[in-house]
Amino acid sequence: MGGSQPARPLKAAIDYFDTGMNEVRGFLTRGSAFALLTVLEVQRRDRIHGPIAEIGTYLGKSLIGFGLAAQADETVIGVDLFIDGARDFEAELRANWRRFDLPEDRLRLHRGSSADIDAAAWAALLGAPARLVHVDGEHTRAAALHDLGLSASALGAGGVIVVDDVLHPWYPDITLAAGALLDRDRSLRAFALVDRQGTLMQGGAKLFIARAADVDRYDAAFRACVPASIVGRTAFAGSNPLVIDVAPDHAKALLIIPQA
Ligand SMILES: C[S@@+](CC[C@H](N)C(=O)[O-])C[C@H]1O[C@@H](n2cnc3c(N)ncnc32)[C@H](O)[C@@H]1O
Repeated sequence: MGGSQPARPLKAAIDYFDTGMNEVRGFLTRGSAFALLTVLEVQRRDRIHGPIAEIGTYLGKSLIGFGLAAQADETVIGVDLFIDGARDFEAELRANWRRFDLPEDRLRLHRGSSADIDAAAWAALLGAPARLVHVDGEHTRAAALHDLGLSASALGAGGVIVVDDVLHPWYPDITLAAGALLDRDRSLRAFALVDRQGTLMQGGAKLFIARAADVDRYDAAFRACVPASIVGRTAFAGSNPLVIDVAPDHAKALLIIPQA
């Protein structure tokens, strides 16, 4: 993992996306971890500030990485039903959060379906426009489009929306929802498509979306951090995202050198 700017507080997130995340059950591949960390590095370097949100937290595998990347005055918001069959997993999520020494007051959990959150309630939940929203909740077309609409409705300057499980044979409607968002909001562009890794039900592909004006900073960062993993570009719903395929022997260069 080379670079030029000191950013001591990001070290915990770098370590987490490298190895720590293996201690938390959930759904996050190494390639997606490389990509999420690259976005967080750009945001730290460029002083892009604001809450980070996730719709569909499960046990916090991604959320903890966001918490470790957040500044002391930033909040991490998680929306979930917190029910899996008969099991309520909110306590396990909170225990995972504490296990990584994260302060409880950095975490704001909302219990319930995101379908019941409208744009006004979403803005109130965030408290300020978000710098990053990870959409990984209900995997239907209507729900994903609703969640993506919420994400776009309060996206801060320089912000990124990440859509999980696009191009997934089991959830094909997610891709249609992502395309519909890009078709209806022409200020947004997909800038990276990280391919799936693992078996059918593990590690889906992720699509990374930003405002058109912000694409270049993220595109350049991905080209600097994962050059060996970039296959080329593809056309998707008016965008030309980088196609990224992280093989087991690929590494990620750091955009920022962490201090000890
Ligand atoms: C694939 S898991 C999320 C994985 C997680 N992001 C991780 O890092 O491991 C999907 C999550 O979405 C939640 N979910 C499903 N339908 C939802 C809804 N309508 N509103 C909010 N969350 C929902 C589920 O409870 C589940 O925890």
